[in-house]
Amino acid sequence: ALVSLRQLLDHAAEHSYGLPAFNVNNLEQIHAIMQAADACDSPVIMQASAGARKYAGEPFLRHLIAAAIEAYPHIPVVMHQDHGPSPAVCIQAMRSGFSSVMMDGSLMEDAKTPSSYEYNLDVTKKVVEIAHAIGVSVEAELGVLGSLESGLAGEEDGGGAVGKLDHSQLLTGVEEAADFVAKTGVDALAIAIGTSHGAYKFTQPPTGEVLSIKRLKEIHARLPNTHLVMHGSSSVPQEWLKIINQNGGDIHQTYGVPVEEIVEGIKHGVRKVNIDTDLRMAMTGSLRQFFSQEQHKADFDPRKYLGLATTAMQGICTARYEAFGSAGWA
Ligand code: G3H
Ligand code: 13P
Ligand code: NA
Ligand code: ZN
Repeated sequence: ALVSLRQLLDHAAEHSYGLPAFNVNNLEQIHAIMQAADACDSPVIMQASAGARKYAGEPFLRHLIAAAIEAYPHIPVVMHQDHGPSPAVCIQAMRSGFSSVMMDGSLMEDAKTPSSYEYNLDVTKKVVEIAHAIGVSVEAELGVLGSLESGLAGEEDGGGAVGKLDHSQLLTGVEEAADFVAKTGVDALAIAIGTSHGAYKFTQPPTGEVLSIKRLKEIHARLPNTHLVMHGSSSVPQEWLKIINQNGGDIHQTYGVPVEEIVEGIKHGVRKVNIDTDLRMAMTGSLRQFFSQEQHKADFDPRKYLGLATTAMQGICTARYEAFGSAGWA
């Protein structure tokens, strides 16, 4: 059944677990997420980014998720719009049937320029007012996602789009978070604690200096009833990195957010954990491996290799449902 983010996160808070929120772009990712959820009885959050809408088209994403809900009627599913750059984009998503939207007012509409606190408050309040009138949940973001190691923020490469920022922008402020939640009434708050989007998060396994679980704990202590969201929370599995590089790939050595650190976050208010890169890596690794194997040189049925990629992604999903404690709660 389609449920709102709020319903699911309230349940997660009540029972002290967290939920992975997987980005979806195609049928195989949706199959993997649902097969894993079905096998371990986990509720599901699927989210579509601007990039996903551009790639697949909004009607395809919406109908694929609707198909998942029809095929697995016993599993609660949130259809969430990830990183809405403006109220207009969020309103479009609500109109098309999403049960949850993210108004990302941490950046201006260009998704490149850091915004003022007042701008963020203003656009978030606007979206909350409309969304809550029709039972849709709202996630907001305070602080800009980026690397505390390099000071760089932006998309995919932990740098490019936004550029160099200082720590006060890259770490969500505790009192500002309290003020923001009180004034906007958001259902969930994404915070900046040193994670960034894409594979290049950390040059070595992260210490407390570059991944501030400390700040997360301070925010939770101040806002014990607010559902916190961790973005950029792929773990960048070293085994998939190796398979990619052993089969013709060339991804630089890099580290993600360790699953144990996320689990620690879940003990301190984290209820939604955004994951995209890990599924991309599993899919890429499994396809590279397939195409470099001698015994597959004559194969040309996409169902064969995409089926293997689905199984690879399913492995990631199952591991996250189990580690975050959502398994068993569908
Ligand atoms: O928000 C970041 C997600 O990884 C989505 O990325 O815009 O390339 O689909 P995307
Ligand atoms: P990753 O790039 O770490 O998978 O993060 C995804 C994300 O935060 C989507 O909003
Ligand atoms: Na989101
Ligand atoms: Zn994100």
